[in-house]
Amino acid sequence: MKKITIAIDGHSSCGKSTMAKELAKRVGYIYVDTGAMYRCCTLYAMRNNIAPADLVQHINDIKVSFQLDPETGKPLACLNGEVVENEIRGMEVSSRVSEIAALPFVRSAMVDQQRLMGQDKGVVMDGRDIGTTVFPDAELKIFVTASDEIRAQRRYDELKAKGQEADFLDILNNVRERDYMDSHREVSPLRKAEDAVLLDNSNMTIEEQNEWLMQRFNERTAE
Ligand code: DC
Repeated sequence: MKKITIAIDGHSSCGKSTMAKELAKRVGYIYVDTGAMYRCCTLYAMRNNIAPADLVQHINDIKVSFQLDPETGKPLACLNGEVVENEIRGMEVSSRVSEIAALPFVRSAMVDQQRLMGQDKGVVMDGRDIGTTVFPDAELKIFVTASDEIRAQRRYDELKAKGQEADFLDILNNVRERDYMDSHREVSPLRKAEDAVLLDNSNMTIEEQNEWLMQRFNERTAE
């Protein structure tokens, strides 16, 4: 069967990575979480006390890679070889990442790395600009959204389950702020590509969503 490129874009915390990971597993594709790459750049700046604008001098020192967790089989983000999966999901990185992801030199460095990772197709990549900028020729593009309260609740449950501090209203504000910043930045703002299929998963179970995705995948690969 021919391999295709699958771009999953959409608002923050609407389960893009859960669905992208599951789809990649089912069809045997590589999964790339591009949000984790911007989170790693943010962590690098925080750890080294680098102001966002000064990051330009260090951008070539930031190498993001993914390795599989030997126990769960799930991908773990690595910053210069060190697993930083937990650190990049906390509130501190979450509240600063939009600013870092809006910097043109950060985007261009990460987009170069993403294009290399997807050059042989057979990849499911999730983010904000995959279908519009990184792979405008992707054969299957999905744009995912859900109501902001539902997204905040999901992020809250996720943090609590990991035993991390969480305040619902803080998270809701963070979700709304990130939507605003992601959609209004100058470089590659979040928007639905014209040829993307819209998925509002506010009232869908994970299983329904997985089925829906498999149908889209089967349609595209049969064409
Ligand atoms: O998907 P996420 O919440 O982990 O993304 C973290 C941040 O990175 C979010 O504010 C949007 C930004 N991002 C982006 O600008 N472009 C991408 N391709 C992926 C994420």
